[in-house]
Amino acid sequence: MNKSVAIAALLLLSACRGQPSDEAPFHLIPDMDHQPKFKAMSANPFFADGRAMRPLVEGTLAQGQLHADEAPFTGRDPGGNFLTRVPYAVDEKLLARGEERFNIFCSPCHDKTGSGAGLVIKHGYPLPVNLAADHAKSLRDGEVFDIASNGVRNMPGYRTQIPAADRWAIVAWVRVLQRSQATKVDDVPADKKGSIEPEMAPQ
Ligand code: HEC
Repeated sequence: MNKSVAIAALLLLSACRGQPSDEAPFHLIPDMDHQPKFKAMSANPFFADGRAMRPLVEGTLAQGQLHADEAPFTGRDPGGNFLTRVPYAVDEKLLARGEERFNIFCSPCHDKTGSGAGLVIKHGYPLPVNLAADHAKSLRDGEVFDIASNGVRNMPGYRTQIPAADRWAIVAWVRVLQRSQATKVDDVPADKKGSIEPEMAPQ
């Protein structure tokens, strides 16, 4: 092959890449690539409203979205008052889940102890309150759930990122952080007292 043929072939091939063209590309094996169909959001004169997408039949619910009891999803009782307690059994499993989720979603700002020295804060985000301080302690469980869901003042809400059951687990973990930072030596079970390091011992 002489040089000019090679160069011409290269130029031809390069024309196959990326240039816009009004011509449909040559389609050797069409399979089922081209079908008469309506795509989402397109118009369809067949229906009275002119839309290809059909609205859901009234009352349609996706699986798992019945929410017959709304309290676990709103944090409020039917009267609109915040729930005082997490509406699930608080056991070790729930706390472990809460710790894990808190460390993922909340600690970037609140840090792992809740004091508010998270990495995001160090980079200039407005300093959050201390989660172990009296004000946060006075919030009802449903209120903390509501804050985790919808945010408060400078804090964004996390209801779209964190499923409701996990938000409750996080609420339970916030209580652990509060309790663990205000313990007395007498709160430590007798058989564990010997394992407290002197500098760690609560006053
Ligand atoms: C992007 C940073 C950020 C993240 C992430 C974040 N927070 Fe906050 N949080 C804040 C800030 C800032 C405030 C203070 C809001 C204000 O007063 O303007 C706050 C306040 C709060 C308060 C109110 C405390 C009080 O005493 O009033 C609670 C409770 C709380 N956060 C819980 C959470 C939980 C639970 C999570 C995880 C789901 C979380 N936060 C994630 C920034 C954050």
